[in-house]
Amino acid sequence: MVAVHILNGPNLNLLGRREPGVYGHLTLADIEARLHQRAKALGKAAGITIDLTFAQTNVEGELVTLIQNAGIAGAGIILNAGAYTHTSIALRDAIVSAEALAIEVHLSNVHAREQFRHHSVIAAVVRGVICGFGAISYDLALEAIVNLLQERDAHR
Ligand code: DQA
Repeated sequence: MVAVHILNGPNLNLLGRREPGVYGHLTLADIEARLHQRAKALGKAAGITIDLTFAQTNVEGELVTLIQNAGIAGAGIILNAGAYTHTSIALRDAIVSAEALAIEVHLSNVHAREQFRHHSVIAAVVRGVICGFGAISYDLALEAIVNLLQERDAHR
């Protein structure tokens, strides 16, 4: 079994109605449903169970706690920290402190947008960053994190 926590930060609860030209028409619930399907297919192909946990919060400190809990439990993290990506040293510290295996995702291509979105304060402490593919960013991250968790657990 591998456990993956999909953590979403501020304003991502409004997906579907929030700037659809930038973020697409899918809601967060649609993205969750897709990921459940992907997890089933990936798990079947790899002969493992992939246990997904979803959370969204608009509160920075709550994201810190979610990251800590996932990291300490040994779960992989797919993190879309929203605007906190660009500002939150607390999120960065949480990833490091909990020794979390995390992937940073974004729906939009942050590098093709405003200058202030070009810098991520968490990118240096995650395993990798996937951005610009809409909901597919999460699918790609799921595939990557499952591989990384299997690799990690094989060496334990
Ligand atoms: C985002 C990009 C961030 O810059 C923005 O603040 C978001 C969403 C994305 O998924 O594209 O809230 O993380």
